Amino acid sequence: MLLDGKKISDEIKQEIAEEVRLLVADGYRPPHLAAILVGHDGASETYVASKVKSCEQIGFGSTLVRLPSNVSEERLLAEIKAINSNEEIDGLIVQLPLPKHIDEQKVTESVLPKKDVDGFHPVNVGKLVLGLPTFVSATPMGIMELLKRYNIETSGKHCVVLGRSNIVGTPMANLLSRNSNPGNCTVTLCHSRTKNLSEFTKSADILIAALGKAEFVTADMVKDGAVVVDVGITRVEDQTNQRGYVLKGDVAFGEVNKKASYITPVPGGVGRMTIAALLQNTLLARKNSIKPSKIPHHVSKS
Ligand code: GUN
Repeated sequence: MLLDGKKISDEIKQEIAEEVRLLVADGYRPPHLAAILVGHDGASETYVASKVKSCEQIGFGSTLVRLPSNVSEERLLAEIKAINSNEEIDGLIVQLPLPKHIDEQKVTESVLPKKDVDGFHPVNVGKLVLGLPTFVSATPMGIMELLKRYNIETSGKHCVVLGRSNIVGTPMANLLSRNSNPGNCTVTLCHSRTKNLSEFTKSADILIAALGKAEFVTADMVKDGAVVVDVGITRVEDQTNQRGYVLKGDVAFGEVNKKASYITPVPGGVGRMTIAALLQNTLLARKNSIKPSKIPHHVSKS
């Protein structure tokens, strides 16, 4: 059965749009997300365009700051500083990857934690590890929401995460091992140095593939009835397609679909949920910026 990220993310967007209507009806300005895009990486252009479009659909304000690929680090940091101190903007994301001459860590740390709706700042990552309320990185947050809305049983299950990136694999492993629902999994985090990888994947009740290699996970690596979540989106050259490429996940969907109990498609799976989670974080940033005593009765401060 499909874990339909498009359907669920559309539901979440409707829920957020309703909350925005209530905020505005109470005299508050709607949430506002700013995105900084450096250069013209094709995939980044696509992601940022769909983030901005989603903001428009649900009644958020948005600002897109485009900078050339040869922009200096100083100039980028100055843009971030200006947005940090702009009270009309609640959330700020700097689309990654950045050009090589820019220090990504320095940039990440320059975003104010209370506006860091990507959840990449060390303060927010630290809170996530401690289980404190914070902005959770959008992709793992979206996956948790997808598992929750499909009532996937996670407690006591063996979850295998492929890939240890700071923005997906590592926080994913963390969230799933928490005492929560979804959560309470026994988690194995596999990576490029893992030996006998398929021994692990074959014992996974829940398999999260986030390694960025097209169609890496094949049917022989998957247990019957497993829940398979595919985070990959790699552009694979295909001249028969009018764009010149097709999008492939980390999972060989055609064959794994026959074994899995649930599986996310690519596109229409995790990518959609990532955007929905970013919007949820931006709404939270807006609510946090309203003084608690002023929060209208029907707006929950989650
Ligand atoms: N690049 C790939 N994924 C992401 C993301 O979730 N946020 C940002 N800012 N850049 C990314």
